[in-house]
Amino acid sequence: MVSGERKSGTVARGGRGYSWGMDTTIDLADTRALRTVLGRFPSGVCVVTGRSADGRTVGMTCQSFMGVSLEPPLVLVSVMKTSRTLPHLKDGPGFTVSVLGEGDEAVSAMAGSKAEDKFEHIPMTTTTTGHQFIDGAPAWFACELEAWVDAGDHDLLIGRVLMAGPADCDRGPLLFHRGRYVSLADEPAGPVSADLSGLLTATGPGAWF
Ligand SMILES: Cc1cc2nc3c(=O)[nH]c(=O)nc-3n(C[C@H](O)[C@H](O)[C@H](O)COP(=O)(O)O)c2cc1C
Repeated sequence: MVSGERKSGTVARGGRGYSWGMDTTIDLADTRALRTVLGRFPSGVCVVTGRSADGRTVGMTCQSFMGVSLEPPLVLVSVMKTSRTLPHLKDGPGFTVSVLGEGDEAVSAMAGSKAEDKFEHIPMTTTTTGHQFIDGAPAWFACELEAWVDAGDHDLLIGRVLMAGPADCDRGPLLFHRGRYVSLADEPAGPVSADLSGLLTATGPGAWF
């Protein structure tokens, strides 16, 4: 039970009733339960790649990605300290984030594995900056490491985006929710409310991604 006033009840959202209560908390020492609750936040799926000192392509699947800043262009990935890729991302010449598209489950599984040569059978393009992105990625960001932050059992890597693309793409994303791959419903849930769209563009027209 969380201290303070007890709040619980049912509120209608999206035409359905959802029960909720502040007394249904989890034990934060139970990392499996915490993972389950965190997994209710849906995300896209990315592959972060870099190069080892001997020139090999290294990388890993990563759902913890976000855009951080437009000016300057910054993105962030959160990488487990146990990842073999992490030292190469921190000490290498740079890294690339490739957003995976619908149907890319096998690419996600391979990059998320502990295989030795994960990228042998994944077609990639090398940019003029020497970064590599996965062919067909709905979005990719070639970065140099701007900063990193020690964050518990993960490191947060902030990348300054040197190149990004493609300029146009209508391929849908691969999504991850509750520990499973899912795809976007064909119909959007609904229009963004007038209030919310005002909030999202509060820093100026088009300043939100
Ligand atoms: C869908 C999916 C999402 C993942 N997201 C992350 C993530 O955000 N951060 C992370 O450190 N690992 C994440 N992983 C796990 C790594 O990809 C996995 O541990 C991988 O084996 C690490 O490889 P490495 O040790 O060769 O770097 C994810 C895996 C999958 C399949």
